[in-house]
Amino acid sequence: MSVESHNATPPTPAVAPGAECIDPAAFARDLAARGGIDPRVRALVPAFDAPFFQAGLAGYSDAAMRLIARRHGCPYCVTEALLDRTLLAGGRGFAKADLGELHDNVPGGADDHPLAGQIMGSEPAEMAAAALKMIEQGRRADRDYRALAYAAEGSFAPPAQHLRLPGGEQLGRIDLAEANDGWGSCDPEESSVVPEFQSSQEQESHGRAVPHSGTPELRNSETSFTAIDVNLACPVKKISSKARGGHWLAEPDGAIDILHAVRDAVPRDVLCTVKLRRAFDDTPEMASHCDRILAAAFEMGYAWATIHARTVQQKYVGPSRWDVLREIVRRHPGAIIFGSGDVWSAADIFRMIRYTGVKAVAVARGCIGNPWLFRQARDLLAGRDPAPPTLAEQAAVLRAHYDLLLAVNHGARYTEDLSSKQIRKFGIRFAAHHPKADDVRRAMIAVASAEDWDRVLAAYYPAAVPA
Ligand SMILES: Cc1cc2nc3c(=O)[nH]c(=O)nc-3n(C[C@H](O)[C@H](O)[C@H](O)COP(=O)(O)O)c2cc1C
Repeated sequence: MSVESHNATPPTPAVAPGAECIDPAAFARDLAARGGIDPRVRALVPAFDAPFFQAGLAGYSDAAMRLIARRHGCPYCVTEALLDRTLLAGGRGFAKADLGELHDNVPGGADDHPLAGQIMGSEPAEMAAAALKMIEQGRRADRDYRALAYAAEGSFAPPAQHLRLPGGEQLGRIDLAEANDGWGSCDPEESSVVPEFQSSQEQESHGRAVPHSGTPELRNSETSFTAIDVNLACPVKKISSKARGGHWLAEPDGAIDILHAVRDAVPRDVLCTVKLRRAFDDTPEMASHCDRILAAAFEMGYAWATIHARTVQQKYVGPSRWDVLREIVRRHPGAIIFGSGDVWSAADIFRMIRYTGVKAVAVARGCIGNPWLFRQARDLLAGRDPAPPTLAEQAAVLRAHYDLLLAVNHGARYTEDLSSKQIRKFGIRFAAHHPKADDVRRAMIAVASAEDWDRVLAAYYPAAVPA
């Protein structure tokens, strides 16, 4: 994937003056005593029961990685960004510079839920039709979705009546303030630099109705997505001078048009969420755009926003600014905002929540080759010391990950070649946990077949050898 070239920066601590006073373990226990996550999130997605999730990671976060994360305690996942045009073309027309293969983005069976499907693009009508196709899992013919996208020259007319999800109804809305009972009254004695959660009164005054079905089975359907996540964050460059992804942070009106079109097109019982960066760059003229887009998104019923605390210009290089994220959160009291950037350990999750006031944290590069981070986060919530993975646990996960890749790639032209190529990039990261990390890393790089894979496991992970 093209973005891989931008992700090779070593882990950096975020800019968060004063965060060193935070005791993440104590805060995690305190959070657990208050339910673990903002109850409004659980009201929207009942299975989202802890304040972290696996972020979209192009080239990584396919069904195999998601299933491994879930088995280690991750309650919610986001697919990698899928270009609207890729979706509408039914997979054809996929350009190398673009993100997301279709097969990586479909729900990976009954265990791969709840799942947000992320889309990215340049035209509101295409984004709207692509979102609908994703939610409906292509229940109409491809030409019908293309007709929705291209019929009316840039203006999208959502169908008068949405197709129903399996067994689904167009259901009503709940008032989120009702679901907010008691959350947010936290005792912030730990440090004066650490913000308080909003009082419940404050949240109530900003509590707004967002789409909610009241029937979890519908959004946890095994055949579709719980949410459509609109990507306004990806730094991959513009195509034909058209904005997409994070480039919309420089053109907020266009971003808002896209958010409108997607929200209007998607059935009301399906959540819409948005991923964005804190700004396009650090010039004063760009400073207010994130706030404008956030305000518009919440006004039109977006359930939450995830903010990556780097600028688009930064790509993935240099520290994220938790201090800036904290200010953004303060400017939108009552809104559900999640955070992303420089989350390298389970402790970072709770540090970020405590410091910035976000309601949940996206784990991204920190969980590539490290699904145990989710288990460790659950350990912290339960007041246990987070345990590193044993060699036997590493062995079991490595074997399971390769088997899942073979299953996900089943039916592809070169299933074994493809899976072997894919496991290499994970194996390199998994190697970091091994006592002979450098040797294992070198061995992982050389894997080209299932036989090679078995050899590496037999040599370095004896517990993984099949009986
Ligand atoms: C290789 C790579 C691919 C990414 N792909 C996506 C993506 O498809 N969708 C998305 O929302 N974010 C994507 N991101 C951004 C991450 O979700 C996250 O916001 C970012 O890496 C910051 O978090 P971190 O510093 O903890 O890694 C990607 C990041 C990397 C490094």
